[in-house]
Amino acid sequence: MSVILVTGGTGLVGTAIKHIIETEPEGSRFGKRPGEKWVFIGSSEADLRNQEQSKKLFEKYKPTHVIHLAALVGGLFINMKKKLDFLRDNILINDNVLHNAHELGCKKVISCLSTCVYPDKVDYPLDETKIHLGLPHESNFGYAHAKRLVDVQNHAYKDQFGDNFTSAIPTNVFGPHDNFDLESAHVLPALMHKCYLAKKNGTPFVVWGSGKPLRQFIYSRDLAKLFIWMLREYDDVEPLILSVGEDEEVSIKQAADAVVKAMGFTGEYRFDTTKADGQFRKPASNKKLLSLIGDFEFTPFDKALEETVQWFQQNYENARIGKPR
Ligand SMILES: NC(=O)c1ccc[n+]([C@@H]2O[C@H](COP(=O)([O-])OP(=O)(O)OC[C@H]3O[C@@H](n4cnc5c(N)ncnc54)[C@H](OP(=O)(O)O)[C@@H]3O)[C@@H](O)[C@H]2O)c1
Repeated sequence: MSVILVTGGTGLVGTAIKHIIETEPEGSRFGKRPGEKWVFIGSSEADLRNQEQSKKLFEKYKPTHVIHLAALVGGLFINMKKKLDFLRDNILINDNVLHNAHELGCKKVISCLSTCVYPDKVDYPLDETKIHLGLPHESNFGYAHAKRLVDVQNHAYKDQFGDNFTSAIPTNVFGPHDNFDLESAHVLPALMHKCYLAKKNGTPFVVWGSGKPLRQFIYSRDLAKLFIWMLREYDDVEPLILSVGEDEEVSIKQAADAVVKAMGFTGEYRFDTTKADGQFRKPASNKKLLSLIGDFEFTPFDKALEETVQWFQQNYENARIGKPR
């Protein structure tokens, strides 16, 4: 029997993995396999910053495999405001998960990094060899340093004990169950929420920044499939970038246009160029992924965005929207 523990199982990526495991045909490429027990946990089951609670959680489920997603996560503005929280919470969470997985003799742990952890000044496209080649962007140095340490720990666990610990590096993720709280949301869910409010209240839809920066977005349900594939087929300590191709960058303006269309918004729509843009672009290469996985079809951006907008509109009352506006 394999017991697969998914930390952060209540978040954007965790709920997408749960959705895929529960909806793909049993025994299929991404569906549940015989002998697998999947456990999805959120912070109400254990605060993974806490050593004692983390130990109890691992003793309770005795996982053989871990997909480690739990993290303090947020967009540009909250990262700039709370650098120490992002550094400390994530260091504690990661150390507790890896240490307990090691103590229990887990067969594999895949932890989640992010393309945000890369150096600010680096040659593009990003690839798996460039994580530690310079300082991260000043706006998110707390989060970035904590996440980079996971890769360092994975290598140390492998070298000292032979543990099969590795990491995945997704680009910007979006999908159902995202965080739509305007105080802390990433760019796409923030655009969706702002546009929703503009439509509801008859106010202008104002997008922060120039709209010019480019990003690679991955649909959470595609990412979920890639995690499931990695769990079964990828056994290397070196990280793996999980992303759409470099030729699929989308500008913030294109993303905002797609949100306007999906919401059917017809009111005033403009850009506030006094607000920060963040990095202009940071393309990541998915060459290594494609060379290993063979065939894989990503959901087209507009379709994934439409599905997410629909989910958000239908679940507004229960979605993570922060304080009522
Ligand atoms: N979203 C993105 O664009 C993106 C991009 C690249 C990488 N990532 C990475 O992907 C992973 C998942 O992110 P996400 O977007 O799914 O985040 P999310 O929706 O904010 O979910 C975070 C998850 O972590 C859990 N968590 C937070 N603090 C915890 C704690 N102290 N103890 C236990 N659990 C805790 C939350 O539990 P509760 O909800 O129950 O509190 C939730 O299940 C993270 O490692 C993140 O760094 C995300």
